[in-house]
Amino acid sequence: MKNKKILITGAAGFIGSNMSELLVRDNEVVGIDNLSNVDDRFVKSLSHNRNFTFKKGDINDPEFMKELGSFDLVVHLAANSDVKGGSSDPLLDFRVNAQGTLGVLEFMRQTDSSQMAFASSSTVYGEAAQLPTPESYGPYLPISSYGASKMAGEGFISAYSHYYGFRSTMFRFANIVGKNSTHGVIFDFIHKLKKDSVSLEILGDGTQRKSYMHVTDCIGAILFVHEKLRKTDIINLGNIGTTQVTRIADSVTRAMHLENVKYHFTGGFEGRGWKGDVKVAELSIDKLSSLGWKNNLGSDAAVDKAVSETITQLTSST
Ligand SMILES: NC(=O)c1ccc[n+]([C@@H]2O[C@H](COP(=O)([O-])OP(=O)(O)OC[C@H]3O[C@@H](n4cnc5c(N)ncnc54)[C@H](O)[C@@H]3O)[C@@H](O)[C@H]2O)c1
Repeated sequence: MKNKKILITGAAGFIGSNMSELLVRDNEVVGIDNLSNVDDRFVKSLSHNRNFTFKKGDINDPEFMKELGSFDLVVHLAANSDVKGGSSDPLLDFRVNAQGTLGVLEFMRQTDSSQMAFASSSTVYGEAAQLPTPESYGPYLPISSYGASKMAGEGFISAYSHYYGFRSTMFRFANIVGKNSTHGVIFDFIHKLKKDSVSLEILGDGTQRKSYMHVTDCIGAILFVHEKLRKTDIINLGNIGTTQVTRIADSVTRAMHLENVKYHFTGGFEGRGWKGDVKVAELSIDKLSSLGWKNNLGSDAAVDKAVSETITQLTSST
């Protein structure tokens, strides 16, 4: 993608900061974020780049949004990304992920911005009976308010695309890992082991397994698919195969040069990490592959690379 004017919502976050770094090379990028999940540390280094402007503000604030102007593409990543917190505050998912997406769509309608790439999630499927799960699977029965709010976001994007001629690509992400992450299993394990290097608490029963995709593959695939598809559609972004949570713990302890770490499993709710956690998630990436995209890293390799990137990043920041 070149010479485009692009708005990235959630630009200060994990995927948003990686996306900003990539897109500023050849495009004019405005990144917005209300800094509710993270401060501006990952976008600070971009502030000297004349292709990048960062604005602090909320997608639910129409006055703030209106001032931003018109864009060739809106990459909508802003969200409450804390899936775990859903059962204690489901309304937060509604306000940020469902209502916030509607706010972005209204902004697009008013500014004649007609293309969107949206970060949806595998959690819309709930506990799918079919694995790997294709985009055509149904009915969707999400088991978290996060999944439900992403499903609502997809619905409104589809309706606005029909009403106003938007071209929107909705990406259902597997678990994305890599540099600048501030949440998720890898981040959690490294933090716990820095505090206690002899034992590690693992949420759930340890048998949870999911597909992991490296963030460089994720952002590459988003831009590739959005250009290639050229119509409003839904597509899974994931990997072939899954990685079990204990395999991630092994990768972290190995990379931190720790031996004989004792794993303690919380057992959790039905062996899940938390209420709303989908124990086994594997998306079919046949549609992604048929468009000609191939990931550079498989699920295990993505985890291993992210482990080493996160350790390096956390070590250099302390
Ligand atoms: N990381 C993953 O594995 C994963 C998986 C599936 C879907 N997703 C989706 O991808 C997107 C990016 O995820 P991430 O992992 O980078 O999360 P993140 O929390 O690092 O980034 C989200 C950003 O949105 C910002 N934000 C939150 N509410 C906002 C609001 N009202 N207005 C403006 N900004 C707001 C946060 O401050 C944060 O910087 C999210 O939509 C998330 O739901 C991520």
